[in-house]
Amino acid sequence: MSSQLIDKFNRKITYMRMSVTDRCDFRCIYCMDEKMTFLPRKQLLNLEELEWVGRAFVELGVTKIRITGGEPLVRKNILHLFQRLGKLEGLKELVLTTNGSQLFKMADSLKEAGIKRINISLDSLKPERFQKMTRIGKLDVVLRGIDAAILAGFERIKINAVILKNRNHEEVIDLVKFSIERGIDITFIEEMPLGLINEHDRAEAFYSSLQIRQDLKKSFTLLESTDITAGPSRYYSVQNTDTRVGFISPHTHNFCNTCNRVRVTTEGQLLLCLGKENSVDLQSIIRDHPGDIMPLKAAIIKAMDIKPEGHNFELVGQPQVLRYMNRTGG
Ligand code: GTP
Ligand code: 5AD
Ligand code: SF4
Repeated sequence: MSSQLIDKFNRKITYMRMSVTDRCDFRCIYCMDEKMTFLPRKQLLNLEELEWVGRAFVELGVTKIRITGGEPLVRKNILHLFQRLGKLEGLKELVLTTNGSQLFKMADSLKEAGIKRINISLDSLKPERFQKMTRIGKLDVVLRGIDAAILAGFERIKINAVILKNRNHEEVIDLVKFSIERGIDITFIEEMPLGLINEHDRAEAFYSSLQIRQDLKKSFTLLESTDITAGPSRYYSVQNTDTRVGFISPHTHNFCNTCNRVRVTTEGQLLLCLGKENSVDLQSIIRDHPGDIMPLKAAIIKAMDIKPEGHNFELVGQPQVLRYMNRTGG
């Protein structure tokens, strides 16, 4: 059996994003509908099964696992999973994307459990607006969490900010200042049309990365960074600071040709592309073959044949992908 994952377009898959819950303690307006139903618990992979999935991928050459949600830190006993994944031989990076709500109490234990880097969502520095964008989030709790993560000593903490026109677009300069003051990075994200939302019209709220860059140039000098990450972000460094500013611009910059990643949802569905529905059910394979990792690995290898070449997001009209972002964590 091959120990590498290579798809039909010769892209090597070395990065797996694992969503460990679809639940979340926020309801961000771009991510979820106000009234969401979450998966029944018995439909979810248990922590041992999630570890099993991680193990299979690492044995197939994956070197980076990013834990996502929903909000991963609301899942009970999640630290056990991190501790086990952290011990997998061959895994170089175990990283986490979180909304920051639990970090004030969990930052140190996450570090001890082997998480290397953390990306934290933060769309506004104004308490009322923060609450509006997350529908229920409390800004001060997240800010305490960010400070706790810095104190815990994580490498290159990154803020993720989804920017929407006339909601938070005039905060981009303040968000960069906030990051510079703390010596951390920030990425601005264009909203992606995943799932039906009713709070705003996505085309009307679109605010492009290009526009943000122009706004930032009024206050900062952005130097094109030579950091080539395999991710979708294009980075600039802010002159005379330690901060890098990234842009994820799925509408204007297509990065599919260098895609190195796949996703696994909390039900054990392997998704081959964020913007398409191509998937394979790993849960039934795991449960049909307890203790035998070979069928799981074989299914993952076979899935490489259906990884699509790419996707295009359309902001006007119905979203093509009806799955909400909380099922994949981005
Ligand atoms: P790194 O692992 O450091 O590259 O992090 P990241 O920025 O890829 O991950 P994060 O979880 O912080 O995600 C930030 C944003 O990037 C989210 O909105 C994701 O949806 C988006 N993103 C990540 N991977 C992809 C991708 O393959 N395609 C698209 N369109 N967006 C992606
Ligand atoms: N479009 C773009 N980014 C989104 N996120 C959640 N939903 C969307 C969307 N529809 C972001 C979150 C988080 C990251 C994992 O994905 O803000 O930072
Ligand atoms: Fe929760 Fe993240 Fe979705 Fe916000 S974007 S509702 S924090 S999963």
